[in-house]
Amino acid sequence: MGRKNPGKGKEKRQQRKEEQHRLKLAKQVVDKANELEDPLTPFHTFRTFNKNDVCAELFIKRVIVLDEDVKTWIFDLTKRNMKDRYEQCSWGWNDSKKLEEMMDDAAWYLIAKSKDDGSLLGFSHFRFDLDEGIEVLYCYELQLEPHVQRKGLGKFMMQILELIAFSNSLKKVVLTVLKNNKDSEFFKAINYQIDETSPMDDDEEYFPYQILSKINKRLLV
Ligand SMILES: CC(C)(COP(=O)(O)OP(=O)(O)OC[C@H]1O[C@@H](n2cnc3c(N)ncnc32)[C@H](O)[C@@H]1OP(=O)(O)O)[C@@H](O)C(=O)NCCC(=O)NCCS
Repeated sequence: MGRKNPGKGKEKRQQRKEEQHRLKLAKQVVDKANELEDPLTPFHTFRTFNKNDVCAELFIKRVIVLDEDVKTWIFDLTKRNMKDRYEQCSWGWNDSKKLEEMMDDAAWYLIAKSKDDGSLLGFSHFRFDLDEGIEVLYCYELQLEPHVQRKGLGKFMMQILELIAFSNSLKKVVLTVLKNNKDSEFFKAINYQIDETSPMDDDEEYFPYQILSKINKRLLV
């Protein structure tokens, strides 16, 4: 009888305490990012994209201050680009479910607008959040109008998200891609890798998606 390893309980309590402390700090980083007025402020040169005949201004807003017509376009573009791909896998497409996700109060939007005619060209829905206990910038969506695709704008917008994430001490930029979406290759072309939280199971019926990420190398040193 007695206790075989009296030090073990103490060790576990210490580990739990350290984990709680780590989570508390991670949440502070996320909360601080969510309090930003305009995350683009320090990156003035990234407010304009001018390449391959696309001249755009970029701005960031929380969903709660977006105009109704912008919200309508955001949903419409996502549906035009993604509905078929969702329907071709086990996720399926559901208007109200998608709308609920996109209009959640936690959503931030990076938007590209044409400087030539004021039309909306593309957007990213992102959030500062804890993902499996890690402080991250989660990119929920990156959608461009078909006529401005493959001109460098998507890469530019992801660079903005990375700058914002890494300068605000978030550990990684994370996103979910559908395996059946050929445009998911874009993220591999800009050096996103399979995240450790991505399901290892190859069964496409249950796991039609992969989780990709880019790590904040500034925090590794
Ligand atoms: C995916 C998407 C955001 C990419 O943006 P983009 O502006 O068209 O891409 P870029 O021109 O910035 O391309 C950047 C790099 O990715 C590569 N790339 C882009 N799309 C690609 C594709 N479908 N397959 C392979 N590589 C691709 C480009 O060749 C380029 O490589 P380089 O830097 O070596 O020249 C855009 O095409 C889009 O909105 N697609 C529809 C919606 C979608 O699928 N979104 C992603 C899922 S949320």
